[in-house]
Amino acid sequence: MHISVLLEESIKYLNLKKNSIIVDATLGYGGHSQRILEKIPEGFLYAFDQDKEAIKEANKKLEKTGSNYEIIYSNFKNLKEELGKRNVLVDGFLFDLGVSSPQLDNAERGFSFHKDANLDMRMDRNNPLTAYEVVNNYSLEELTNIFYKYGEEKYAKSIAKGIVLERANKKIETTLELAEIIKNNVPEKYRKKGHPARKVFQAIRIEVNDELNVLEIALKDALKLLKPGGRICVITFHSLEDKICKRIFREVSEIPKELEKLPVIPDALKPKFKVITNVKPSDDEIENNIRARSSRLRVIERV
Ligand SMILES: C[S@@+](CC[C@H](N)C(=O)[O-])C[C@H]1O[C@@H](n2cnc3c(N)ncnc32)[C@H](O)[C@@H]1O
Repeated sequence: MHISVLLEESIKYLNLKKNSIIVDATLGYGGHSQRILEKIPEGFLYAFDQDKEAIKEANKKLEKTGSNYEIIYSNFKNLKEELGKRNVLVDGFLFDLGVSSPQLDNAERGFSFHKDANLDMRMDRNNPLTAYEVVNNYSLEELTNIFYKYGEEKYAKSIAKGIVLERANKKIETTLELAEIIKNNVPEKYRKKGHPARKVFQAIRIEVNDELNVLEIALKDALKLLKPGGRICVITFHSLEDKICKRIFREVSEIPKELEKLPVIPDALKPKFKVITNVKPSDDEIENNIRARSSRLRVIERV
């Protein structure tokens, strides 16, 4: 089961009206979308996901709540194109990033270093790039880079070397084989600080799903598609996602340095957006849902 993170807070900050046009960029198992739908009986919800299994389950939930919605099976990097086709401007976007609990718990998807499975990690099973490809075919330099960049893993090089050495004998097929190689290529004392495979698995998942690039594209497009008074709520789960969101929000909401010295800033040059808030989950929420631990909600509004 998936417990929606920062649910009350994101619903509150979306500022929903009866007739709001809302985009849930990450439908998942429909927890947020269902709540949204309840609050917009005269509006419309467009919900994106790139995982057909999630869409099937979410649709069962949404059907019970209303019919004023459309599920779009697509990566949210295509939101400008998809919403353009439908000719819509939007009152609120929600991004609840990363993978859902069912994706993590379904061993077969290959996201978890606790469960034995083929190396996969694709959110969209039509994506040609799998974790197997990355682990077995990327060069030593490429592996080192993604472990540093997307995993912030300080033993990136030694883990990458370990992988290259192992795969010279035999292809690395499964999550547990990979987790074992990672464990064997970090110092003993490092193994005690949480599971040593966590960061590398995160890095491979980001690479396979191109998570940071698509986030950047989608957030910039969402800003353009927002009506005045409309808001974007983004729930991030690690510092790399959060930094991208923070930077993009700052770029569009701050007065450029070169204008700061002007006695009066002309309206046309004033920022078109204002940052509303930046919220962390309560202790209670973290206690009930460990997945919420690293989450953060950022909200911006078109003025
Ligand atoms: C954390 S879950 C969302 C959970 C949902 N808010 C709920 O309450 O049930 C994230 C979902 O977003 C989807 N997703 C992640 N990145 C995506 C992308 N770039 N395009 C489309 N869907 C994406 C995943 O497949 C997953 O189902």
